[in-house]
Amino acid sequence: MLAWSTACARGAPRPVASVTRAPFGTTDRGESVSAYTLKNANGMEARVLDYGGIIVSLRVPDRHGRFDDVVLGYDSLPAYLRASPYFGAIIGRYGNRIAHGRFTLDGKTYTLAKNNGPNHLHGGLKGFDKVVWDVAPFEHPDSVGLVLRYTSRDGEEGYPGTLRTTVTYTLTSANELIFDYSATTDRATPVNLTQHSYFNLAGDGKGDILGHVVTLNADRFTPVDSTLIPTGELKRVAGTPFDFRTPTPIGERIDQDDVQLRYGPGYDHNFVLNKAGDAHDPTFAARVYEPASGRVMEIYTTEPGLLYSGNFLDGTLHGKGGVVYRRRYGFAMETQHYPDSPNKPTFPSTTLRPGESYHSRTIYKFGVQP
Ligand code: GLA
Repeated sequence: MLAWSTACARGAPRPVASVTRAPFGTTDRGESVSAYTLKNANGMEARVLDYGGIIVSLRVPDRHGRFDDVVLGYDSLPAYLRASPYFGAIIGRYGNRIAHGRFTLDGKTYTLAKNNGPNHLHGGLKGFDKVVWDVAPFEHPDSVGLVLRYTSRDGEEGYPGTLRTTVTYTLTSANELIFDYSATTDRATPVNLTQHSYFNLAGDGKGDILGHVVTLNADRFTPVDSTLIPTGELKRVAGTPFDFRTPTPIGERIDQDDVQLRYGPGYDHNFVLNKAGDAHDPTFAARVYEPASGRVMEIYTTEPGLLYSGNFLDGTLHGKGGVVYRRRYGFAMETQHYPDSPNKPTFPSTTLRPGESYHSRTIYKFGVQP
């Protein structure tokens, strides 16, 4: 086991931030997988695999200083290899759906796997969530983290161009988990990277998330068809169950008779984030508060959209410690460009060209409310 530890000399008791590594099994192709544990000076801890960049656990304090794991996932690698709804993973080359597994770029049509009904989802059959990334840990005085690198070859999963991808996970002494994504390509390609952690701020496996109180900085959302492909409209949330501009429990309107909620079923929609100021600075996207524990998660991002979902757990998956993940036992908030952008010329572009570089930053900041 490798270990990197830094003692921050700021008087007693001396806080220690560290990164440690331990084996986590072997893939079907014989690749060794490691788990890295990032710990900050407050005792907040993230456990991350080089396989898929998966966040296996995330321990954060409640209002009494008690730590709990707030993400869903599995205890062992075989469970992740067998059937995972993208628990905790990096999603690429394209997060969310591309209609009919097809897009045209510079006059050429590309065909992708249809791995979600008639559509392509989350990069295909073997997306960035199912590959082993190169990992380099780092420690700085106020943060620890990992630099994850993966090169996706030209033609992989049907996408054009060799895509060199770097994703940096940083855990700061301010209880932030920061994701920095960057990529370059040698041929024009769509790129839309995100992170697919599922949260339950009451603690993993401790019931459904319907009582979590959500605020979204979004005046509009992208309505979908019955296969969850955006229609192209940017619809105002005012007067709909999609209005989270003021703090509202997730469960308050989730079962209302609304055609969009029927398609979800529930919320499985991209919200159009309100943006002001410099596009390179992360802006406030969402706040989630769990009343019993007092835990709060705030999300800031440079991305234009936030896909908010969590309906598809159905009691068939057994997570960490054997807990059964029933319907709505977790929610995901995936910062990203809008679904199906390669086929929607009016949406912000997801095309990356040679000579350009892709950059995106998302911050999950954890705290408590009395
Ligand atoms: C995204 C999609 C959902 C579902 C999950 C993965 O959040 O929008 O419909 O496919 O990924 O289970």
